[in-house]
Amino acid sequence: MKVLVLGGGAREHTILWKLSLSDRSHRLFAAPGNAGTREIAENLDIAPTDLESVAKAAREFAVDLVVVGPEAPLAAGIVDYLEQSGIPAFGPNREAARIESSKVFAKSLMHKYGIPCARDAVFSSYDEARDYIMEQPAPLVIKADGLAAGKGVVIVQTREEALKALSEIMCDRVFGDAGSSVLVEECLSGRETSLIAFTDGKTVAPLPAARDYKRVYEGNLGPNTGGMGAYSPPDFFDSELSRELTRTILEPTVRAMASEGRPYRGMLYAGLMLTDEGPKVLEYNARFGDPETQVQLPLLKSDLLDIMLAITRGELGSVEVSWDDGACVGVVLASGGYPGRFRTGYPISGLDKTGRDVAVFHAGTRYADGRVETAGGRVLTVVATGGDVAEARGKVMSSIPSIHFEGCYYRKDIAAEEVR
Ligand code: AMP
Ligand code: GLY
Repeated sequence: MKVLVLGGGAREHTILWKLSLSDRSHRLFAAPGNAGTREIAENLDIAPTDLESVAKAAREFAVDLVVVGPEAPLAAGIVDYLEQSGIPAFGPNREAARIESSKVFAKSLMHKYGIPCARDAVFSSYDEARDYIMEQPAPLVIKADGLAAGKGVVIVQTREEALKALSEIMCDRVFGDAGSSVLVEECLSGRETSLIAFTDGKTVAPLPAARDYKRVYEGNLGPNTGGMGAYSPPDFFDSELSRELTRTILEPTVRAMASEGRPYRGMLYAGLMLTDEGPKVLEYNARFGDPETQVQLPLLKSDLLDIMLAITRGELGSVEVSWDDGACVGVVLASGGYPGRFRTGYPISGLDKTGRDVAVFHAGTRYADGRVETAGGRVLTVVATGGDVAEARGKVMSSIPSIHFEGCYYRKDIAAEEVR
């Protein structure tokens, strides 16, 4: 089996690492990949959104399956494009990926099919949105409809802040056309959880739930990032809750998409808030989570390639998907200054010095002049498994000091009891 994974982050390195453990004989490719994927796959210098070049490479290497990591190529219709060229692809097609690429679509789906979510109103006129905001109690959440690289959601504490965010999104178009419509939502409170599942459009097989840390500083302070760490499973999560959330949220979503003529295949990600009134969906993503994947796939006991192939054939029900009972913790090592300005090109050492049950997944790294160096804001995710979260966390934290690069910054409280 030849498999090409699109993307170059730690999520994609983790997917490739898990695929590399498959019992099936395989050859792996990454586009564009990073210095970590290079060890287990052939890196191709192709952007995941360059549909034509991806299809050309897939044909040239006679690839049997293309796995799509990030949302942008999904929203651009890469799965449709590849399938029209006769190349099997793992991920939802363009119409199904609307569940992530349009928040207005996702909310109307939830309302129509009774999937619990925050109350909201949708506007394509600034004046109408402003009038509505003037009548709502703060705090509020203002969301740009389209993809905005994870930045299109603003939580505001006052009406003034709400109007400022509204004006930036709708008038200044800071997120471009993604801001031609906005959602104004009630602000929910509770524990946030990422619920992610494999699905072939009929069968739904949930991964153990995970929590991620978006803020850059300890104590969940500072600006949002692409994710500073994650762990799985959350303390309150058990198989009964997993079954309930599958029955009340994931399966109804997959059925709703089928009823709308948008059969959904691939990874379905529901970001949940567990409120006093029960679990509610904050957002959907049409892909694996980052950094959630780094702490979920190490717990998968089954063969990931078998699962992915079964999904592309619509036969997920015929394969086993089983999970380790233990826990997994991942801590991101970032370049100093991230998510603001930072420098790259620093050599990384000690990558082979980590302990047992520890893996290092690469994100912003490159191989140049015979060495591995930093090439991005989030550089590595150091991951460990253990019997419980505390044990896994201990292994991660004791491994990190062996890894060195200039300006390395990480949160020391990821998965610590006080921020769980
Ligand atoms: P999203 O880009 O939709 O994932 O939203 C980013 C983050 O905003 C989520 O992970 C939540 O922490 C937060 N968020 C989104 N919607 C709400 C809401 N209605 N109430 C409270 N927090 C929210
Ligand atoms: N961890 C959030 C995401 O993958 O969107």
